[in-house]
Order: sequence, then structure tokens, then C-alpha cells
Amino acid sequence: MIKINENYLKLQASYLFSDIAKRVSAFQRENPDINVIKLGIGDVTRGLPPVCVKAFHKAVDEMAEDSSFRGYGPEQGYDFLRRAIAENDFQARGAEIAEDEIFVSDGAKCDTGNIQELFSKDITVAIPDPVYPVYLDTNVMAGRTGNYTDGRFDGIVYLEATRENGFVPQLPQQKVDLIYICFPNNPTGSTATREELKTWVDYARDNKALILFDAAYESFIRDNSLPKSIYEVEGAREVAIEFRSFSKSAGFTGTRCAYTVVPKDCRAFDAQGHSQSLHSLWNRRHCTKFNGVSYPVQRAAEAVYSDEGKAQTAELISYYLRNADLIRREIEALGYTYDGGRNSPYIWVDGQRDSWSFFDMLLNKAGVVCTPGAGFGSCGEGYIRISAFNSYENVKEAMARIARQLQ
Ligand code: MLT
Repeated sequence: MIKINENYLKLQASYLFSDIAKRVSAFQRENPDINVIKLGIGDVTRGLPPVCVKAFHKAVDEMAEDSSFRGYGPEQGYDFLRRAIAENDFQARGAEIAEDEIFVSDGAKCDTGNIQELFSKDITVAIPDPVYPVYLDTNVMAGRTGNYTDGRFDGIVYLEATRENGFVPQLPQQKVDLIYICFPNNPTGSTATREELKTWVDYARDNKALILFDAAYESFIRDNSLPKSIYEVEGAREVAIEFRSFSKSAGFTGTRCAYTVVPKDCRAFDAQGHSQSLHSLWNRRHCTKFNGVSYPVQRAAEAVYSDEGKAQTAELISYYLRNADLIRREIEALGYTYDGGRNSPYIWVDGQRDSWSFFDMLLNKAGVVCTPGAGFGSCGEGYIRISAFNSYENVKEAMARIARQLQ
């Protein structure tokens, strides 16, 4: 008899953003004349930077000729892209990361979801609350949790991010082995200082733990005093893996390109307590289960690092940050409190009511989609997340509709 992985039965019936998409589709079917404005899932809306499109086209043309055609590429990514990433995203900021420590992939969602395969089932995992649901769900699937009761899975150490701590999850009281953190934070939009990141690095070093640092939104950091990478903190190489993506920085959500950094001295331990290289294990996994990102996509991603690419992507980010400013101003004018939206595309609004009913009210009365905070964990109850990814005109219209409902 074929049997299922029963851990899947512990999960909520559907993934948060699929659930929201279903509700929005149902609403649109019933109200075909309403122009629904989506400020829910963090999906970009503007076209790819022209320099990326040019590189993309050129690479497709190369694929058309026998003489320049490329078949399977290196699973870890082409050297030209790995080199550009290491030099621009890390070495230029004083972070010591080499090109062969970069693993190019098709998404930070997949990488943050897959990485837990490298670790034993019996480790203790610390996950922020609220949190991007992928970290938690993939650990549930892997059997690292008990059942779901009162909004929480048994066996997980939840790191609460609340108004009191500025939505910055704090160090756990007990010893944990694996820690997920994300800055600029999804969903709250909070950021962490170098000193705050250092406390995590020190904790991981003292406790033989490992940090999974999701930096998918680093390109929104405009405050130069804030770190963009955990490797800007001394000692992080041994205890941290970092995830990055071109999705939000260069509009690649539909194009698909991301990368994971696993330094060669990053370690975890075997049953005898001997140190093992996570770089080797991730390389082994990547080669076995992944066949690389397509050549044209990697050329398009490489173009991000040209002078033109840097200027065009900075302009893209500025565009969304202008939307974020508008959302913040409007929310404030309505007398609501919020966090984020400064070095982040997300604005975390205290909705002063349960978050799914706030979501339903905005959808049904204003035709605006947000994300209910409760979908990110029990500490998200009472909040909604508004995303700045849309056209300025749509954001303006959405905020006017929201104002009409809330005034
Ligand atoms: C989000 O809205 O939280 C993200 O866009 C989802 C994702 O990147 O997978």
C-alpha cells in the first residue's frame, strides 16, 4: 500500500498566497466590473530593466546558432554570473565571499525551502513569528514538528516579533540549532543593524548553531548604516547561509533567478560531533536535484551588475519605495500605526481588528488586496501587510479607496 508523508496532513489546507489568490478570483468572478488592485503578494509589476532585456535577447540569439549554443550548464551557475555576484554584492561591501561560494538557482523560495534537507530531523528550529510561511511549512513537511495547536506547531521555537521589540525577533531563551532570520523583514518591513546581526552571529558561534539569513529584500535598503549581508558581520562565514534573489531587485519574479551563498567554512556537525562542510553538502544536493538556471536568464541577471544595470535597477527600487512612502503617509493620515516601508517594500499596519476580517473588508468594500497578518503567524493577528509593488497610479487609487472605507 502506498503511504503518504503524514506530516503534510499537519499543514494548513493551502499555502497562504494560494488561499488569497482563490479568494480574490472568487471575488472577481462575482464582481467582474470592479478593478481589483493587488497590494497583496510581493509580485513586481514593472518591466525588466532594458539592459537585462538586451542581454536576454542576445543570449537567446546565441542559443539559436550551433556555434554559440549551450546545453546543460554548470548546476551552480555560470562563472560569469557567480563572479559578478561575488564582486558586486559582497566584495565591494567588504564581505569576503568568493565566486565558488555562490550557488545560482531559480528562486529564494525554493532555496529557503530546500536547504533544511541538509539537517537532521531531530534539531531544534527557531522561526520568527510572524514569518514568510515557507520556512515553517518546509520544516513541518520534513517532520520536525508536532501537531498544530492554537496557531502554533509543537516543537518549534517561535521568535516573537512584536511592537514591543520593534518587530525584530529576539534571541531565543533556550538553545536552538537552526535559526531563520530575514532582513529587511518579510512581512513586517523591519530592518536589523549590524550590532543586532552580530548578536545572532555570536549566539550561533557560542551554540554551534546555524543561521539561515534571507536577504531577498536587501536592495530596498537605502540607509547606508544598515548591513545588506550577514557577511558584513565578523565571524558570520562559519555560521550563516544567505539567500538572495533577483525577483524584487530587478523584477525577475517571472524570469526566475536567485542565489544562495554557502561559504566554504560554513559548518554543521555529524553524530560524532565532527564538523562537516555545508558547502560540500549543498553542492552535492544542487548537482543531484537541480540542473541550473537557463543561460539567457543568467546573462540577463549578469547585466544587473553593469553600470547601466545598476542605474536601472536603482530606479526600479526607487519607484517602489515612492509607492511605499505614499502608503505610509496615507496610513498615518488615517490615524493607524505601521512599521516598515522605509528600507522595505512592505508596510505592516496595525489594523485594530482581526486581520482576515480587515482583509475581507478591503477586498469586498474597496476592491483592494492586502495580506492578512495572521497568515504569517499568530503574532501577525491584528495586522495587515500592504505591498508597494504596483504602479504609482494604482497605489494612489488603492489608498484613496482605503481612506474612503476607514474614514
Ligand atoms: C511575499 O509576498 O511574501 C513574497 O512575494 C512571496 C515570495 O516571494 O514567494
